[in-house]
Amino acid sequence: MRPTRRDLLKNTTLAGLGASLAAMTGCTPARSADAAATTAIKTAGGITLPAGLGVTRPRPAGQKPVHDLTTKPVEKVRIALIGCGNRGPGLMRDCFGIPFAEITAVCDVRTDRAEAMAERIVKAGRPKPAVISGTEKSWESLCERDDVDVVYVATPWNWHAPMAIRAMERGKHAFVEVAAVVTMEDCWRIVDTSERTQRHCVMLENCCYGENELFVLSLARQGVLGELTHAECAYIHDLREQLYGRQGDDGWRREFHKQYDGNLYPTHGLGPVAQYLGINRGDQFAFVVSMSSPEKGLSAWRDKTGGPHANDKYVCGDMNTALIKTALGRTIMLQHDVISPRPYSRINALSGTGGTFFDYPARLALNDPTAHGLEAKNSHGWLNDKDLATMREKFTHPLWKKLQDQAKNAGHGGMDFVMNWRHLDCIRQGITPDSVVYDAASWSSIIELSSWSVENGSMPITVPDFTRGIWKTMPPLGVVS
Ligand SMILES: NC(=O)c1ccc[n+]([C@@H]2O[C@H](COP(=O)([O-])OP(=O)(O)OC[C@H]3O[C@@H](n4cnc5c(N)ncnc54)[C@H](O)[C@@H]3O)[C@@H](O)[C@H]2O)c1
Repeated sequence: MRPTRRDLLKNTTLAGLGASLAAMTGCTPARSADAAATTAIKTAGGITLPAGLGVTRPRPAGQKPVHDLTTKPVEKVRIALIGCGNRGPGLMRDCFGIPFAEITAVCDVRTDRAEAMAERIVKAGRPKPAVISGTEKSWESLCERDDVDVVYVATPWNWHAPMAIRAMERGKHAFVEVAAVVTMEDCWRIVDTSERTQRHCVMLENCCYGENELFVLSLARQGVLGELTHAECAYIHDLREQLYGRQGDDGWRREFHKQYDGNLYPTHGLGPVAQYLGINRGDQFAFVVSMSSPEKGLSAWRDKTGGPHANDKYVCGDMNTALIKTALGRTIMLQHDVISPRPYSRINALSGTGGTFFDYPARLALNDPTAHGLEAKNSHGWLNDKDLATMREKFTHPLWKKLQDQAKNAGHGGMDFVMNWRHLDCIRQGITPDSVVYDAASWSSIIELSSWSVENGSMPITVPDFTRGIWKTMPPLGVVS
């Protein structure tokens, strides 16, 4: 039986911990336990934190920031995909409908999946891509190809960092599924690689491009919500069946429930909220405090399901709640629960001096509805359907307006198409994408930082500044069309 991460923490040195978990996952060490962080701090709870955990590292010589990186425009963006499981084919299906995108290579460790992906591309009337498969390392040759501009990474989390890093080192932009990386060490590795190679590392956070998320971004940017003070967000999605079912014995997601007690999937909720608040663009995550409920639901599911996983030991609490304080003093409540029987929600809430938006279902309250010519007279209730429709008419994001017809049948209510189109269009034009490696790193960093906080009596843990000061002079993301 594998030791849990908690056992490992108790029984190994930090360096040993990194090595053990590297062996378990195949490529990346869990948590920040390698060379850069071997000096330890003893906390009040008696648990050891890596000294470098929340520390902003100086920019190594020879690297340049990438917050405004522009690249040579291209007529067609040539795409390669690694990972043809559940997510990869959906991403590629969106690309079929983008005339300036061409899929030149697909890869999966499983040949049947890579072949099936290539077949779907041909059936969609597109040229047959190269098929690369067979071993866990086959993807490395995909990164060597000279007919690829962007490498999409849609593999299990432990493979994201090595694949994105190799792609950038070979001159490609990396488009990485969520979360971009798991460990703090890997956060710094992707930041440093993007800066060293001057290639983009974009996390494919589709939820930033949902109709409601773009609407809230537009409300926020156009001042309707006034001065922003607080946001709430989450990933609440009963995944018990998926954790045990579809992925069968390679249920890689379940492995993380044995290793981390924290927020395993922060970015669907946090990404949009970070863009509303201008995180890395005028504001910055300062520190995170996190606590978990007991772990009950997945063990109960294990006992009910039986089978080869009967000896699994889970450590991740069913519900993790994290509070993030920003440099400007604003607050974010972020939750993760993929176990409890309850309806899906990302909460997606934002408050400011001018109003409050809450999602699931979409509701808006305004400080002064009459200023917008609405029927509502005060701020004590949510706008009625008619008033909300009026606000949507005025403030629907131009990107959504432009692409909504094409996005109609795309994944997750159309947001997947809008995201793919927008990121690929940025590469086509050679302009900076809406989110860069600093966003990928800071949004993903909450995985490891929340788990350290849980393990240390909910102690506040500093979030490092991956922009190394650039956030202070960056304007927030505008309402791009
Ligand atoms: N943004 C979203 O809405 C969304 C939705 C689902 C999944 N995801 C993300 O997509 C990623 C993949 O998730 P999934 O559900 O598709 O998982 P999956 O297990 O269904 O698919 C992963 C694929 O990667 C392949 N693979 C594993 N190791 C490989 C290697 N070394 N080389 C080549 N191929 C390899 C597997 O064979 C499998 O086909 C994850 O990061 C997940 O978080 C995002």
